[in-house]
Amino acid sequence: MNKAILFLLVVTLNAGYLSNCNAQNKPISQRVDSLMKLMTLEEKIGQLNQYNDDWLATGPVTLDANKKEQIQNGQVGSLLNCMGTARTAAWQKIALQSRLHIPLIFGQDVIHGFKTTFPIPLGESCSWDLDAIELSARTAAVESSASGIHWTFAPMVDIARDPRWGRVMEGSGEDPYLGSKIAYARVKGFQGDKIGETNSVIACAKHYAAYGAAIGGRDYNSVDMSDRLLWEVYLPPFKATVDANIGSFMNSFNDINGVPSTANSYLLRDILKDKWGFKGFVVSDWGSVGEMINHGSVKNEYEAAEAAINAGCDMDMESRCYKNNLVQLVKDGKVSMSTIDDAVSRILTKKFELGLFDDPFRFCNREREEKELNNPEHPKIARDAARKSIVLLKNEGNLLPLSKNLKTIAFIGPLVKAVKENKGFWDVEVPGVDSGYIVSQWEGLEKKIGNHAKLLYAKGCNIEGTDRSGFAEAINIASQADAVILSIGERRDMSGEARSRSNIGIPGVQEELLKELLATGKPVVVLINAGRPLVFRYTSDNAPAILYTWWLGSEAGDAIADVLFGDYNPSAKLTMSFPLSTGQIPIYYSHFNTGRPAQNDDNRFYTSAYTDLSIYPKYEFGYGLSYTTFKYSDLKLSQNKMKKDENIKVSVTITNTGKYDGEEIVQLYLHDLVGSITRPTEELKDFRKLMLKAGESRTVEFAIDKEKLSFFNKNLQWVAEPGEFDIMIGASSRDIRLKDRFELVD
Ligand code: NOJ
Repeated sequence: MNKAILFLLVVTLNAGYLSNCNAQNKPISQRVDSLMKLMTLEEKIGQLNQYNDDWLATGPVTLDANKKEQIQNGQVGSLLNCMGTARTAAWQKIALQSRLHIPLIFGQDVIHGFKTTFPIPLGESCSWDLDAIELSARTAAVESSASGIHWTFAPMVDIARDPRWGRVMEGSGEDPYLGSKIAYARVKGFQGDKIGETNSVIACAKHYAAYGAAIGGRDYNSVDMSDRLLWEVYLPPFKATVDANIGSFMNSFNDINGVPSTANSYLLRDILKDKWGFKGFVVSDWGSVGEMINHGSVKNEYEAAEAAINAGCDMDMESRCYKNNLVQLVKDGKVSMSTIDDAVSRILTKKFELGLFDDPFRFCNREREEKELNNPEHPKIARDAARKSIVLLKNEGNLLPLSKNLKTIAFIGPLVKAVKENKGFWDVEVPGVDSGYIVSQWEGLEKKIGNHAKLLYAKGCNIEGTDRSGFAEAINIASQADAVILSIGERRDMSGEARSRSNIGIPGVQEELLKELLATGKPVVVLINAGRPLVFRYTSDNAPAILYTWWLGSEAGDAIADVLFGDYNPSAKLTMSFPLSTGQIPIYYSHFNTGRPAQNDDNRFYTSAYTDLSIYPKYEFGYGLSYTTFKYSDLKLSQNKMKKDENIKVSVTITNTGKYDGEEIVQLYLHDLVGSITRPTEELKDFRKLMLKAGESRTVEFAIDKEKLSFFNKNLQWVAEPGEFDIMIGASSRDIRLKDRFELVD
């Protein structure tokens, strides 16, 4: 063919591809294909690079003097930590100067709210309120999408059973069943009706996988785990996000059984993309592609890029390994063009779904940003979420709720007047925008009691350190008061990424301050603010009333005041076991029996117990009190034998036997008595949260089907094996109120 004809042909073909990729009426897959036909290898690889913007960082930074030029050249597909309509629009304009005008996708850690901050996810999970959880994610999506964000790095769905690990604060605790329900709700909340609505963001399930099982609770540490445990406990919440149609996944930093997750083709290709049919894209964690050199699984960045892309990691966050090596790897035949194309098309598909090719600035509407970041409904949603997350751990002599007729209240502690602490670790500072109001605990209480009572304040001590000089003032005001409220705990940045602690006691001299206050003889209510389960034996043994308040976000003060004075009756229940001592860690309810089960603390003789410590946690999974009490009665099973294609209907009556209206979380646990592999003594398989007026009774129904009885057998097949099952209905994993047995027959 002569050159002129070839040239004309190419021009005509390209014009066709261009018009296809711009045609809004064509299916996205066709538009992606057409665009990819126009792209050079370098441009394709550009789509696989994600850079940090220069002004905020959530990891070790690489600064490129020519970042702008790289974006103009189409060498970068995504930015993170770039927020606000002005800033995102400015970078987007630069990206659109590239040859093919491919827009950037902006990702951000919107973990527990954006401008409006919600309770840290672990706290929020204690609400067991899937609607409220979905709503908080929805609200965060509305705010962040209005501020130029397309994609959140949430939800974090890692099961966590070691409270020394600082990132327990980001997840939903220890249980795969509840964790899966919450994961699903959060994805629905973030993604809304569909990806592409301007008030939705793409969600990202992280950290895939088993990051929560880091040895010794040390962040980023290795994981060594059986397939059974992986499939049964750590993978289900990830699978739930795929069921919810999630748009993206993020690798975890850890290696698992010797293979870093970033280059783990078993996880990424065999399970996620093949078995589960995930159609979205996978982003590495920050720098994790390059960090495989430190793991010792690759020699250099060239091998790191090869291993990660071939294993199915589509986008490289911040390591530059893809940018610097993929062209050569393709030329060397180490990475196939189809591997590159698959990764690129997954990313472009999401950009098309977001509508960015039709209007790259559709998330950059200044007026909408202004309106949504000041939406008066959002604080109300945050207050409700915060109240629902507070766990009442102890309430001796019904000290709580406090009477509104108290004359003098002493509000003491290093966290009473703290402001930003209430926001928790992953709060978002939206640059250029007032980074958000926070109702401090002091303000909340002041508002609540108005002029009805005198409110006295003393800091008492710092969170850390040994300074007791403030004790005297605290004791002095406590002596003048009718009741004392003491607010103590961690700093907000003591739990979070890279915040593992070996001693998870209440820091400093805070418990000593409590001791002094108790010695005044005044009733003391303790608020514990933290991002993880802490160990606080002195407080739990001696304080008459304890509320675990986590980090509750923007509306912390109002929510705490609502609970203290009974305008909200606490309903939350723990989603992670609280150890009695760090020596028990890891501790979780859903354990196996041994050949010599530890029966109880009185019988330790040659059993699987500690000689010097109870085997029981201080507060177990599912535990949490209310200002009222609930009676469980009339457990009925529709049948005691069930075939695999049948259901058993289970009903139980719950009665509010106390003086306050209140909500109860009724929990259903199963125990498969004999299995081809041993089964946990208890597994949560269902729950209901119900509101009952004082004196009211209601019958709750559950259905047991084959799915609830199934598990992964030793060949990793999902099976329900015939045999007997105990069914337990409880107010917590230890407080089992009713029990029965049924049989699954062939
Ligand atoms: C590292 C964290 O592990 C991850 O959760 C986060 O999304 C990224 N940094 C980006 O900030």
